[in-house]
Amino acid sequence: MNDELKLIAGTANMELGGKIAEYLNVELCKTEIGHFSDGEIKVRIEDNIRGRDVFIIQSTFAPADNLLELLLISDACSRASADRITAVIPYYGYARQDRKDQPRVPISAKLVANLITTAHADRVLALELHAAQIQGFFDIQVDNLFAAPVLFEYIRGMKLKNVTVVSPDVGGIKMGRSFAKRLGASLAIVDKRRTTADKSEVMNIIGEVAGSDIVILDDIISTAGTTSQAAEVLKAAGARKIIAAATHAVFSGQALEKLEQSPIEEVVVTNSIPLRNGSRCGKIKVLDVSPLLGEAIRRIHTGESISILFD
Ligand code: R5P
Repeated sequence: MNDELKLIAGTANMELGGKIAEYLNVELCKTEIGHFSDGEIKVRIEDNIRGRDVFIIQSTFAPADNLLELLLISDACSRASADRITAVIPYYGYARQDRKDQPRVPISAKLVANLITTAHADRVLALELHAAQIQGFFDIQVDNLFAAPVLFEYIRGMKLKNVTVVSPDVGGIKMGRSFAKRLGASLAIVDKRRTTADKSEVMNIIGEVAGSDIVILDDIISTAGTTSQAAEVLKAAGARKIIAAATHAVFSGQALEKLEQSPIEEVVVTNSIPLRNGSRCGKIKVLDVSPLLGEAIRRIHTGESISILFD
Protein backbone atom coordinates (compact mmCIF):
# COMPACT_ATOMS: atom_id res chain seq x y z
CA MET A 1 0.00 0.00 0.00
CA ASN A 2 1.15 3.54 -0.75
CA ASP A 3 1.86 5.26 2.57
CA GLU A 4 -0.15 8.32 1.70
CA LEU A 5 -3.45 8.81 3.51
CA LYS A 6 -6.28 10.22 1.39
CA LEU A 7 -9.13 12.12 2.97
CA ILE A 8 -12.41 12.73 1.17
CA ALA A 9 -15.18 14.89 2.62
CA GLY A 10 -18.75 14.30 1.47
CA THR A 11 -21.05 17.29 1.31
CA ALA A 12 -22.72 16.46 4.64
CA ASN A 13 -19.60 17.30 6.65
CA MET A 14 -17.53 19.68 4.51
CA GLU A 15 -16.54 21.93 7.43
CA LEU A 16 -15.70 19.06 9.78
CA GLY A 17 -13.78 17.39 6.92
CA GLY A 18 -11.71 20.56 6.49
CA LYS A 19 -10.92 20.63 10.21
CA ILE A 20 -9.90 16.96 10.22
CA ALA A 21 -7.63 17.62 7.22
CA GLU A 22 -6.10 20.52 9.14
CA TYR A 23 -5.53 18.30 12.19
CA LEU A 24 -3.84 15.68 10.01
CA ASN A 25 -1.97 18.28 8.02
CA VAL A 26 -3.18 16.85 4.69
CA GLU A 27 -5.19 18.32 1.81
CA LEU A 28 -8.72 17.08 1.23
CA CYS A 29 -8.96 15.09 -2.01
CA LYS A 30 -10.38 17.02 -4.92
CA THR A 31 -13.83 15.73 -5.76
CA GLU A 32 -16.75 16.69 -7.91
CA ILE A 33 -19.97 16.02 -6.04
CA GLY A 34 -23.16 17.39 -7.51
CA HIS A 35 -26.37 16.35 -9.23
CA PHE A 36 -27.38 15.27 -12.68
CA SER A 37 -30.24 17.29 -14.15
CA ASP A 38 -32.80 14.74 -12.92
CA GLY A 39 -31.55 15.11 -9.31
CA GLU A 40 -29.49 11.93 -9.11
CA ILE A 41 -26.16 12.30 -7.31
CA LYS A 42 -23.01 12.60 -9.37
CA VAL A 43 -19.63 11.79 -7.81
CA ARG A 44 -16.12 11.92 -9.24
CA ILE A 45 -12.82 11.67 -7.37
CA GLU A 46 -10.40 13.94 -9.16
CA ASP A 47 -7.17 12.87 -7.41
CA ASN A 48 -5.37 9.59 -7.97
CA ILE A 49 -6.18 7.23 -5.07
CA ARG A 50 -4.84 3.98 -6.52
CA GLY A 51 -3.29 1.88 -3.76
CA ARG A 52 -4.06 4.52 -1.10
CA ASP A 53 -5.57 4.30 2.37
CA VAL A 54 -8.77 6.31 1.88
CA PHE A 55 -11.00 7.82 4.58
CA ILE A 56 -14.41 9.16 3.55
CA ILE A 57 -16.03 11.57 6.02
CA GLN A 58 -19.79 11.63 5.73
CA SER A 59 -22.59 11.68 8.30
CA THR A 60 -25.78 9.98 7.21
CA PHE A 61 -28.45 12.23 8.72
CA ALA A 62 -31.56 12.93 6.63
CA PRO A 63 -32.09 13.41 3.72
CA ALA A 64 -31.10 9.93 2.53
CA ASP A 65 -29.00 11.62 -0.18
CA ASN A 66 -26.25 11.87 2.45
CA LEU A 67 -26.21 8.09 2.83
CA LEU A 68 -26.41 7.57 -0.91
CA GLU A 69 -23.53 9.97 -1.43
CA LEU A 70 -21.39 7.97 1.02
CA LEU A 71 -22.22 4.76 -0.86
CA LEU A 72 -21.40 6.33 -4.22
CA ILE A 73 -18.09 7.82 -3.02
CA SER A 74 -17.11 4.47 -1.52
CA ASP A 75 -18.00 2.65 -4.74
CA ALA A 76 -16.02 5.21 -6.75
CA CYS A 77 -12.98 4.72 -4.47
CA SER A 78 -13.15 0.97 -4.86
CA ARG A 79 -13.40 1.21 -8.64
CA ALA A 80 -10.45 3.65 -8.56
CA SER A 81 -8.37 0.88 -6.89
CA ALA A 82 -8.08 2.37 -3.41
CA ASP A 83 -6.23 -0.10 -1.22
CA ARG A 84 -8.44 0.34 1.83
CA ILE A 85 -11.62 2.35 2.35
CA THR A 86 -12.75 3.57 5.77
CA ALA A 87 -16.18 5.15 6.07
CA VAL A 88 -15.85 7.81 8.78
CA ILE A 89 -19.41 8.37 9.95
CA PRO A 90 -19.61 11.04 12.68
CA TYR A 91 -23.40 10.55 12.84
CA TYR A 92 -24.80 7.17 11.82
CA GLY A 93 -28.36 7.84 10.69
CA TYR A 94 -31.21 5.31 10.64
CA ALA A 95 -29.71 3.93 13.87
CA ARG A 96 -32.77 4.27 16.05
CA GLN A 97 -34.55 1.33 14.40
CA ASP A 98 -32.08 -1.22 15.70
CA ARG A 99 -34.50 -4.05 16.56
CA LYS A 100 -37.87 -5.37 15.50
CA ASP A 101 -39.88 -4.00 18.40
CA GLN A 102 -43.22 -3.95 16.56
CA PRO A 103 -44.70 -6.11 13.84
CA ARG A 104 -43.90 -5.21 10.24
CA VAL A 105 -41.07 -2.72 10.84
CA PRO A 106 -37.56 -2.78 9.31
CA ILE A 107 -34.26 -2.94 11.18
CA SER A 108 -32.87 0.05 9.37
CA ALA A 109 -29.57 0.16 11.30
CA LYS A 110 -28.76 -3.31 9.93
CA LEU A 111 -29.88 -2.48 6.39
CA VAL A 112 -27.63 0.59 6.34
CA ALA A 113 -24.72 -1.54 7.62
CA ASN A 114 -25.30 -3.95 4.74
CA LEU A 115 -25.42 -1.10 2.22
CA ILE A 116 -22.13 0.38 3.46
CA THR A 117 -20.46 -3.03 3.27
CA THR A 118 -21.88 -3.68 -0.21
CA ALA A 119 -20.46 -0.32 -1.33
CA HIS A 120 -16.98 -1.78 -0.60
CA ALA A 121 -16.10 -0.02 2.67
CA ASP A 122 -13.41 -2.09 4.42
CA ARG A 123 -13.98 -0.55 7.82
CA VAL A 124 -16.08 2.02 9.65
CA LEU A 125 -15.08 4.71 12.12
CA ALA A 126 -18.20 5.90 13.93
CA LEU A 127 -18.91 8.30 16.75
CA GLU A 128 -21.38 7.41 19.48
CA LEU A 129 -23.51 4.83 17.69
CA HIS A 130 -27.03 5.01 19.10
CA ALA A 131 -26.78 1.42 20.37
CA ALA A 132 -23.57 -0.52 20.98
CA GLN A 133 -24.93 -3.61 19.21
CA ILE A 134 -24.93 -1.76 15.86
CA GLN A 135 -21.19 -2.46 15.80
CA GLY A 136 -22.09 -6.12 15.43
CA PHE A 137 -24.43 -5.44 12.51
CA PHE A 138 -21.32 -5.06 10.35
CA ASP A 139 -19.14 -7.92 9.16
CA ILE A 140 -16.27 -5.46 8.72
CA GLN A 141 -14.27 -3.74 11.49
CA VAL A 142 -16.03 -0.92 13.30
CA ASP A 143 -14.41 1.49 15.74
CA ASN A 144 -17.09 3.27 17.73
CA LEU A 145 -15.64 6.36 19.40
CA PHE A 146 -17.33 8.18 22.28
CA ALA A 147 -17.75 11.93 22.47
CA ALA A 148 -17.77 11.82 26.29
CA PRO A 149 -14.13 12.98 26.66
CA VAL A 150 -14.91 16.09 24.56
CA LEU A 151 -18.18 16.86 26.40
CA PHE A 152 -16.59 16.09 29.76
CA GLU A 153 -13.72 18.58 29.39
CA TYR A 154 -16.13 21.38 28.57
CA ILE A 155 -18.63 20.55 31.31
CA ARG A 156 -15.93 20.16 33.92
CA GLY A 157 -14.80 23.69 33.05
CA MET A 158 -18.30 25.02 33.86
CA LYS A 159 -17.63 24.59 37.59
CA LEU A 160 -21.12 23.30 38.34
CA LYS A 161 -21.98 22.61 41.99
CA ASN A 162 -23.51 19.54 43.58
CA VAL A 163 -23.89 17.97 40.14
CA THR A 164 -26.34 15.25 39.17
CA VAL A 165 -26.05 13.68 35.73
CA VAL A 166 -29.49 12.77 34.44
CA SER A 167 -30.13 10.12 31.84
CA PRO A 168 -33.39 11.09 30.13
CA ASP A 169 -34.24 7.46 29.46
CA VAL A 170 -33.20 4.02 30.66
CA GLY A 171 -31.23 3.36 27.45
CA GLY A 172 -28.72 6.03 28.46
CA ILE A 173 -27.97 4.77 31.97
CA LYS A 174 -24.60 3.23 31.10
CA MET A 175 -23.38 6.41 29.41
CA GLY A 176 -24.81 8.53 32.25
CA ARG A 177 -23.21 6.41 34.95
CA SER A 178 -19.72 6.57 33.49
CA PHE A 179 -20.05 10.34 32.89
CA ALA A 180 -21.25 10.88 36.47
CA LYS A 181 -18.33 8.81 37.80
CA ARG A 182 -15.80 10.96 35.93
CA LEU A 183 -17.46 14.14 37.10
CA GLY A 184 -17.72 12.94 40.70
CA ALA A 185 -21.47 13.48 40.36
CA SER A 186 -24.50 11.44 41.27
CA LEU A 187 -26.84 9.85 38.74
CA ALA A 188 -30.59 10.20 38.28
CA ILE A 189 -32.84 8.71 35.64
CA VAL A 190 -35.96 10.02 34.00
CA ASP A 191 -38.48 7.30 33.36
CA LYS A 192 -39.80 8.17 29.91
CA ARG A 193 -42.46 6.43 27.82
CA ARG A 194 -42.59 6.89 24.09
CA THR A 195 -46.19 7.47 22.97
CA THR A 196 -45.23 7.65 19.26
CA ALA A 197 -41.87 7.56 17.46
CA ASP A 198 -41.46 11.33 17.86
CA LYS A 199 -43.33 11.92 21.14
CA SER A 200 -42.52 10.93 24.67
CA GLU A 201 -43.96 11.46 28.12
CA VAL A 202 -42.02 11.71 31.37
CA MET A 203 -43.36 9.40 34.08
CA ASN A 204 -41.02 9.60 37.10
CA ILE A 205 -37.62 10.79 38.26
CA ILE A 206 -35.49 8.11 39.87
CA GLY A 207 -32.89 9.76 42.13
CA GLU A 208 -32.34 13.02 44.01
CA VAL A 209 -32.27 16.25 42.00
CA ALA A 210 -33.51 18.96 44.38
CA GLY A 211 -30.84 21.64 44.90
CA SER A 212 -28.51 20.06 42.31
CA ASP A 213 -26.95 21.46 39.16
CA ILE A 214 -28.07 19.09 36.42
CA VAL A 215 -26.42 17.73 33.30
CA ILE A 216 -29.00 15.98 31.11
CA LEU A 217 -26.90 13.62 29.00
CA ASP A 218 -28.12 11.93 25.82
CA ASP A 219 -26.62 10.70 22.57
CA ILE A 220 -29.09 12.49 20.28
CA ILE A 221 -31.32 15.54 20.48
CA SER A 222 -33.83 15.22 17.66
CA THR A 223 -37.20 16.91 18.29
CA ALA A 224 -35.84 17.93 21.74
CA GLY A 225 -39.05 16.53 23.26
CA THR A 226 -37.09 14.16 25.52
CA THR A 227 -34.61 16.80 26.69
CA SER A 228 -37.03 19.69 27.19
CA GLN A 229 -39.65 17.58 28.99
CA ALA A 230 -36.98 16.14 31.26
CA ALA A 231 -35.79 19.69 32.02
CA GLU A 232 -39.33 20.87 32.93
CA VAL A 233 -39.85 17.94 35.28
CA LEU A 234 -36.40 18.36 36.86
CA LYS A 235 -36.99 22.09 37.41
CA ALA A 236 -40.35 21.34 39.03
CA ALA A 237 -38.56 18.86 41.30
CA GLY A 238 -36.22 21.60 42.56
CA ALA A 239 -33.20 21.33 40.25
CA ARG A 240 -30.98 24.47 40.07
CA LYS A 241 -28.98 25.14 36.92
CA ILE A 242 -29.84 22.75 34.04
CA ILE A 243 -27.38 21.98 31.23
CA ALA A 244 -28.14 19.56 28.38
CA ALA A 245 -25.35 17.69 26.62
CA ALA A 246 -25.63 15.42 23.60
CA THR A 247 -23.28 14.21 20.89
CA HIS A 248 -25.58 14.54 17.88
CA ALA A 249 -27.55 17.74 17.25
CA VAL A 250 -30.18 16.39 14.87
CA PHE A 251 -32.52 19.28 15.81
CA SER A 252 -35.59 18.31 13.82
CA GLY A 253 -39.04 19.93 13.81
CA GLN A 254 -39.47 22.56 16.54
CA ALA A 255 -36.35 21.47 18.46
CA LEU A 256 -34.74 24.90 18.64
CA GLU A 257 -37.94 26.59 19.82
CA LYS A 258 -38.45 23.92 22.47
CA LEU A 259 -34.90 24.30 23.74
CA GLU A 260 -35.25 28.09 23.75
CA GLN A 261 -38.44 27.92 25.83
CA SER A 262 -37.18 25.24 28.21
CA PRO A 263 -35.48 25.92 31.57
CA ILE A 264 -32.20 24.61 30.09
CA GLU A 265 -29.47 27.24 30.35
CA GLU A 266 -27.00 25.78 27.86
CA VAL A 267 -27.17 23.01 25.28
CA VAL A 268 -23.77 21.45 24.59
CA VAL A 269 -23.48 19.42 21.37
CA THR A 270 -20.75 18.44 18.89
CA ASN A 271 -20.24 19.17 15.21
CA SER A 272 -20.94 15.54 14.16
CA ILE A 273 -23.83 17.14 12.24
CA PRO A 274 -23.61 20.71 10.96
CA LEU A 275 -25.99 22.90 12.97
CA ARG A 276 -29.28 23.62 11.24
CA ASN A 277 -30.42 27.21 11.84
CA GLY A 278 -28.30 27.22 14.99
CA SER A 279 -28.34 30.98 15.15
CA ARG A 280 -32.01 30.85 16.17
CA CYS A 281 -31.08 29.54 19.62
CA GLY A 282 -28.38 31.34 21.58
CA LYS A 283 -28.16 28.56 24.18
CA ILE A 284 -26.23 26.20 21.92
CA LYS A 285 -22.53 25.53 22.32
CA VAL A 286 -20.91 23.39 19.61
CA LEU A 287 -17.78 21.42 20.51
CA ASP A 288 -15.35 20.31 17.84
CA VAL A 289 -14.77 16.55 17.44
CA SER A 290 -12.23 16.93 14.62
CA PRO A 291 -9.18 16.32 16.88
CA LEU A 292 -10.83 13.11 18.19
CA LEU A 293 -11.73 11.83 14.71
CA GLY A 294 -8.45 13.08 13.22
CA GLU A 295 -6.39 11.26 15.85
CA ALA A 296 -8.39 8.06 15.32
CA ILE A 297 -7.81 8.31 11.55
CA ARG A 298 -4.09 8.88 12.09
CA ARG A 299 -3.84 5.86 14.38
CA ILE A 300 -5.88 3.59 12.09
CA HIS A 301 -3.66 4.63 9.18
CA THR A 302 -0.43 3.91 11.06
CA GLY A 303 -1.77 0.78 12.74
CA GLU A 304 -1.54 2.20 16.26
CA SER A 305 -3.99 1.38 19.02
CA ILE A 306 -6.91 3.78 19.44
CA SER A 307 -7.69 2.64 23.01
CA ILE A 308 -6.29 5.86 24.43
CA LEU A 309 -9.13 7.78 22.77
CA PHE A 310 -11.66 6.01 24.97
CA ASP A 311 -10.12 7.30 28.25
C1 R5P B 1 -33.52 7.74 22.48
O1 R5P B 1 -33.36 6.55 22.62
C2 R5P B 1 -32.39 8.69 22.28
O2 R5P B 1 -31.35 8.44 23.18
C3 R5P B 1 -32.84 10.14 22.43
O3 R5P B 1 -33.36 10.31 23.74
C4 R5P B 1 -33.91 10.47 21.44
O4 R5P B 1 -33.51 10.11 20.15
C5 R5P B 1 -34.19 11.96 21.47
O5 R5P B 1 -35.24 12.22 20.61
P1 R5P B 1 -36.11 13.53 20.74
O6 R5P B 1 -35.16 14.69 20.86
O7 R5P B 1 -36.92 13.56 19.48
O8 R5P B 1 -36.98 13.39 21.95
